[in-house]
Amino acid sequence: MTGRPVRIAPSLLSADFGRLAEAVASCETAGADAIHFDVMDGRFVPNLTVGPIVLSALRGATALPFDVHLMIEEPLRTFEQYLDAGASRLAVHVEAEPHLHRFAQIVRGRGASPGVAINPGTSLLALDEAVRFVDFVLVMTVNPGWGGQSFLPGSVARVRELSELIRSRGASCEIAVDGGVGPGNAGDLAAAGAAHLVAGSAVFGRGDVAAAVATLRGAASGLRT
Ligand code: DX5
Ligand code: ZN
Repeated sequence: MTGRPVRIAPSLLSADFGRLAEAVASCETAGADAIHFDVMDGRFVPNLTVGPIVLSALRGATALPFDVHLMIEEPLRTFEQYLDAGASRLAVHVEAEPHLHRFAQIVRGRGASPGVAINPGTSLLALDEAVRFVDFVLVMTVNPGWGGQSFLPGSVARVRELSELIRSRGASCEIAVDGGVGPGNAGDLAAAGAAHLVAGSAVFGRGDVAAAVATLRGAASGLRT
């Protein structure tokens, strides 16, 4: 547990794509801490979703920070477009980007927060150096590409292991978790060291965003509701 309240970041991938501005506004009204955008290029993952133009279109719909997850190949070619469009947190996949340090330098230089995402099949040791210079690690607890998947077994232990790796390197980067997050695992994830929880279907799948965010926040703070 980091001591501070765990942040809840609804993933728009599970929202109604015909009414994204309303979905974003409902997240803000519900007291969410950020909006999570899943950017997919149809190459790093089979799915193709949104580009910077959608972030720009939604930037005026909320004051919430935009938490952007780039599931794309060669992210250094285009990542700055998401900063231009209003991203304040930006994560690239360790599997897709050899120049993580350069990425972090540029993102930080633009006043945003650099993160690195890691797939379930990638060793945490791949982050051995990156934990020293990124602001956060985005731990994928599903295989990326779709919303609504099941939380992978062993994910809480993996978050605990990452917490230990960060501590052993004398680093202070945060842990964010993404994929199959819900009231049934939010408390364990927070106890394992997660500071930022991304949730798509658990927020947009119930027909009541405010209740869903409140339930997640309660579960993350140990108040099982
Ligand atoms: C998957 C995305 C996740 C996903 C989360 O590739 O990175 O952000 O949308 O959705 P749920 O919470 O439904 O797994
Ligand atoms: Zn994501």
